[in-house]
Amino acid sequence: MAAAGSAVGLGNIWKFPYETGANGGGAFLLLYLLFIVVFGASLILAEMVLGRASGQNPVGAFRSLGGGRWPLVGYLGVFTGFVILSFYIVIAGWTIAYMGFMLDGSLISGDAESIGAKFSAFISGGATPVLLAGLFMVATVIVVLGGIGKGIERASKLLMPVLFVLLLVLIARSVSLPGAGEGLRFFLVPDWSKVDGGTFTSAIGQAFFSLSLGMGALITYGSYLPKTTPMPGSAAIIVGLDTLVALLAGFMILPAVFAYGLDPAAGPGLTFVTLPVVFSQMPAGAIFGFVFFALLFVAALTSAVSLLEVVVTYLVDETRLTRRPAALIAGCICFGLGVPSSLSQGAVDIQIFGMDFLTAAASLTDLLLPIGGLCTALFVGWKLGPKSVALVTNNGTQRFALATVWLFILRFVAPIGIAYVLISGML
Ligand code: TRP
Repeated sequence: MAAAGSAVGLGNIWKFPYETGANGGGAFLLLYLLFIVVFGASLILAEMVLGRASGQNPVGAFRSLGGGRWPLVGYLGVFTGFVILSFYIVIAGWTIAYMGFMLDGSLISGDAESIGAKFSAFISGGATPVLLAGLFMVATVIVVLGGIGKGIERASKLLMPVLFVLLLVLIARSVSLPGAGEGLRFFLVPDWSKVDGGTFTSAIGQAFFSLSLGMGALITYGSYLPKTTPMPGSAAIIVGLDTLVALLAGFMILPAVFAYGLDPAAGPGLTFVTLPVVFSQMPAGAIFGFVFFALLFVAALTSAVSLLEVVVTYLVDETRLTRRPAALIAGCICFGLGVPSSLSQGAVDIQIFGMDFLTAAASLTDLLLPIGGLCTALFVGWKLGPKSVALVTNNGTQRFALATVWLFILRFVAPIGIAYVLISGML
């Protein structure tokens, strides 16, 4: 459940709809689902087994199980964690602001155009979004230091089902809008003429990002698993829940985008502009809106916790730092990296690689996560080899019907497939 909480987050509700919109709709959806099924499920299990077998952070796991240069894969993961968290807190900060905008009514009365203008004005506003990112970072540090078990676990067990129900309500509203059919067609009917190498890279990046895969988060969570936990079933549940929530988010956003004549390729603002229009035209929309963004905040928090946890466990295991300074230092560095991300959304022109800082950080993760996944597949498939099956089944005491398929995917399908997707994306 903690891993599912890590997986379900902004990636599903904020990133998935806008990536789908920007990459042509149905074809992107199919590629994303393909990558989830072919690479995602197997790699989740691969990460979990590395964690459980070693009982360590990603660097320590690769060192103790493989040695040699393998710990570099762990270091890559810790670095990727910093990059993701740095822009994750920026978007999560937006959800805090939006709780306020829903309550004070400033985003409820308007039409699509004025809501879009308010969004742009807010994200380019300088200090406020930066401070909210900082606030979210503080919340994440507090949860990581306070322990996962007490507050956040209980809260999210209660709140995530509520989020699920709310998604269903909003889907009902969205698909019943006049003109929604065109959005459904866009989402579900593939138009292959819109597919190029870049679509592949985005789809694979999205698959990994959404599943929290490729940087050791699931190694870290796996390290807390008792030897008796059956892992293949857990991996299936994580994949199922995460994919379901992403699909629901697509059904919530895209029909409304078309019904209101918005641009599906608008980018990171898509969810934040579309939903307030939906709320504006609903009875008690302000309340629905507030509750929605509050739940999105919690979903983002359970994801951010898993990112920070990787960095903190690494620092605690591998350096002399104890948990508290480790969490504080990591939090400060992430926030420091988050500042240019936030400012690059209109306040200051901060570009790298010809993109604004936030887009560049997000694109970098689309690349780093599959690379991490590829290395993990090679490690578990070849370096550990058949031994990894024994580790999954706890020396044959648990059933794992698909062991042969799993090993075949890790050895051949995932390395070749991921390399092919990344290379075709670059070309
Ligand atoms: N999966 C989360 C989301 O969809 C984000 C996330 C949390 C993540 N931990 C991760 C992404 C580790 C990649 C790796 O919002």
